[in-house]
Amino acid sequence: MLNRPALSRTGSFRAENLGQTALALISNLCFTMFVLVVLIFTVIAATYKPEDPLFHPSSRITMFLTSDSNATFVADSTVVRTGEDFMAVNQSAFGGFINVTDVDLGVPLRVDVNADEVTAFECEGQIGAPVDCSDPGVFHLMMTSAIEQFRDIHFYRFGKPVRGDNDSSCHMAWRFRPKEGKAAAFYKDYRSFVIDRSGNCTLSVVGIGEYHSGGNARKRKKNLRPGFEKPQADQEQRAVVPVVGEVVSDALPAIESEGSFSSGKYLFYTGGGERCKSMDHFLWSFTCALGEAKYLNRTLVMDMSICLSSVYTSSGQDEEGKDFRYYFDFEHLKDSTSVLDQTQFWVDWNKWNQKDGLALLPVDDFKITPMKLAGAQETLIMRKFGAVEPDNYWYRVCEGDAESVIQRPWHMIWKSRRLMEIVSAIAAKLNWDFDSVHVVRGEKARNLELWPNLAADTSPEALISTLQDKVDAGRSLYIATDESDTTFFDPLKDKFATHFLDEYKDLWDENSEWYSETMKLNNGVPVEFDGYMRASVDTEVFLRGKRQIETFNDLTRDCKDGVNTCTSSS
Ligand SMILES: *[C@@H]1O[C@H](CO)[C@@H](O)[C@H](O)[C@H]1NC(C)=O
Ligand SMILES: *[C@@H]1O[C@H](CO)[C@@H](O)[C@H](O)[C@H]1NC(C)=O
Ligand SMILES: *[C@@H]1O[C@H](CO)[C@@H](O)[C@H](O)[C@H]1NC(C)=O
Ligand SMILES: *[C@@H]1O[C@H](CO)[C@@H](O)[C@H](O)[C@H]1NC(C)=O
Ligand SMILES: *[C@@H]1O[C@H](CO)[C@@H](O)[C@H](O)[C@H]1NC(C)=O
Ligand SMILES: *[C@@H]1O[C@H](CO)[C@@H](O)[C@H](O)[C@H]1NC(C)=O
Repeated sequence: MLNRPALSRTGSFRAENLGQTALALISNLCFTMFVLVVLIFTVIAATYKPEDPLFHPSSRITMFLTSDSNATFVADSTVVRTGEDFMAVNQSAFGGFINVTDVDLGVPLRVDVNADEVTAFECEGQIGAPVDCSDPGVFHLMMTSAIEQFRDIHFYRFGKPVRGDNDSSCHMAWRFRPKEGKAAAFYKDYRSFVIDRSGNCTLSVVGIGEYHSGGNARKRKKNLRPGFEKPQADQEQRAVVPVVGEVVSDALPAIESEGSFSSGKYLFYTGGGERCKSMDHFLWSFTCALGEAKYLNRTLVMDMSICLSSVYTSSGQDEEGKDFRYYFDFEHLKDSTSVLDQTQFWVDWNKWNQKDGLALLPVDDFKITPMKLAGAQETLIMRKFGAVEPDNYWYRVCEGDAESVIQRPWHMIWKSRRLMEIVSAIAAKLNWDFDSVHVVRGEKARNLELWPNLAADTSPEALISTLQDKVDAGRSLYIATDESDTTFFDPLKDKFATHFLDEYKDLWDENSEWYSETMKLNNGVPVEFDGYMRASVDTEVFLRGKRQIETFNDLTRDCKDGVNTCTSSS
């Protein structure tokens, strides 16, 4: 696993904001790579036996973090990998998919592989009568035609159809994975089917609507065809695999019962130097806090409001007040562990403190290890972080002796399913049948000293010549890039059907579900689709291409981190 190629990371999307020296950039990138490796280690260690001597990196991590590197993350605009990216994907873990022969359940209707040859039981209905979407024959017909039509995905279960927009329309939902998908996730789609009844009462599907066109079928989670239910397996899957496209329920958790607040135990981190730093840094620190809370069997009191670093914002300024849920899957987090939003927490704290006189243990020094706090009886442990970097980084709590005791629970951190929903919609619009190329230009292409060939190697002419060996002419080609002017790639249009993120603006504009849902999270104020979200979606779509062509290695011999930095893994 460690030898796999470096995970692709999308480069600077706000290149003009990156006023860093080349040196800072390099050390940052090196550190980022290092963190990735550590991350992979951590996940392996968490997934397998932690005692395994092969996965005993503590000493090396400690050495690195206490060396002359100052252990800082310099903000850049790369996209953080999260727990689901590190799941080993074993196709058999998903159970069998439903193929067209499975659909024949022996009900009085025969469905052959040729969906046209559907023989109805009896011609009892009159022409023009509404289609009965709950009829098993209709269900079979719809399943068969879906399987026939969408050949690049595997179906895992179908929901029972429901009435659609009119008498000849039914809506049906299903859960699927792309046939060639590497990512560990299920997706949900629900579409509208137009069903025609011919003179001899034979029903046929004459049209299937766009991705997510069958809204009436969306929320019918429970009403699944018994034949396809695999409750046990499903429970397990839901716990470990994201399902993109289900309704997200990530409301802030509340204290369940009156009086239970005072018997709880809490951990809160306050202050700290990670505010407005890169997302890497934020997660590295946040997962340390989560790990400590887990170790101490305490509820982590968290600040849902994060500060987005200027490298990801269009204003070029750090922006406060970004909800954790814009970027990460809070529903999964709160399903995985005990967390509370600080706003709610302090309301309850003040209320119950007056009644019950709750004890608080302030901890000012990160050198007080989690192990020393294990016996603490206080209701709240409050770790306070000062103003001096890098000693005020949360992750310092997890260094040293704590390193071998506290495990960062990466499996609790998934990307926002609202963002993944956009990714899924784009892939669906491309029928899950596209190749992708990641073209890093921006700042790096302008820096001829560190990347002498990049600009030339990513010119449209060079791209055409490199890609013609790798991508068949006429294929759909998704171009993930930090080049803001996509007309730059116009010459490629003769060869390929090119696509860019901005073509799919309707997925986050005023009329989109993403817009209305994030606005709700933001107390009715519209949320900008910021640079970090753009980079996330761009990267994730790239990763769903059938053939993925990376900038470094595939397009240019320049090294990812500048001259002479190539390693076997990048
Ligand atoms: C570490 O930080 C100190 C003080 O901020 C600085 O003088 C030094 O150059 C830094 N070292 C590195 C490798 O960045
Ligand atoms: C996948 O999982 C199955 C059963 O869980 C196991 O038998 C098989 O060896 C696994 N395959 C790989 C490649 O890990
Ligand atoms: C379809 O299902 C049948 C029975 O489960 C199985 O024998 C067949 O191999 C499957 N076909 C595909 C393409 O998986
Ligand atoms: C019923 O609705 C479908 C999809 O919404 C549409 O394509 C079809 O034309 C409609 N049929 C009639 C008879 O209105
Ligand atoms: C019913 O009619 C359709 C087309 O109108 C035809 O394709 C089909 O073979 C007919 N089925 C039977 C059983 O006659
Ligand atoms: C947390 O709970 C587990 C299981 O109940 C227990 O084994 C462990 O000792 C507890 N840890 C602390 C620090 O209290």
